Amino acid sequence: MKFFIDTANLDQIREAQALGVLDGVTTNPSLMAKEGITGANNILKHYVDICEIVDGDVSAEVIAVDFEGMIREGESLASLHPQVVVKIPMTEDGVKALKYFSDAGIKTNCTLIFSVGQALLAAKAGATYMSPFIGRLDDVSTDGLELIEDIRLVYDNYAFETQILAASVRHTMHLVNCAKIGADVMTGPLAAIKGLLNHPLTDIGLAKFLADHKKGN
Ligand code: G3P
Repeated sequence: MKFFIDTANLDQIREAQALGVLDGVTTNPSLMAKEGITGANNILKHYVDICEIVDGDVSAEVIAVDFEGMIREGESLASLHPQVVVKIPMTEDGVKALKYFSDAGIKTNCTLIFSVGQALLAAKAGATYMSPFIGRLDDVSTDGLELIEDIRLVYDNYAFETQILAASVRHTMHLVNCAKIGADVMTGPLAAIKGLLNHPLTDIGLAKFLADHKKGN
């Protein structure tokens, strides 16, 4: 399972990279705005800064909503750095753009997936990754993890190579359950990744080991 961090915060990206378990980064316009990164040039520079911190794929989202605009913008994003993955929304023009980039050998991440049907279309169009937003489904009383299970079943039925990138992961149990289901990738906050570290018996056990060692020396 790949671990991506879902942020545009460079300090958090550095911290996750230093932990040694980071496989990539996802961003979106809201995450960029949260860090105060505005204006086309600053946004493009920020993508390059992120690519220079991590070793893996970095999703950079197009703003255009029409096919020609998505192609223009996606090509420009892809030319920024070899690690850039062009992030495209699940719309009719988006599906056409996924197919275009797939034929051109440019990696894509289809975003804003909320149904199995949308996941099927993204795979048919040749998306490298597709991102079901599990937290946002949970927010509206719909089981986000059940969507991941259903997509896993459909993709396995036909051996689709599109990777299931569980997005809108909000906490550590989301992450653990996505791993049980077999999501290929999860993207979430640093806290969800670091939450995996915690167990009180580990803390108690370590304290006892150190206390016993001290007694014997
Ligand atoms: O990057 C897309 C997705 O992960 C957003 O998460 O928490 O805003 O629903 P959230």
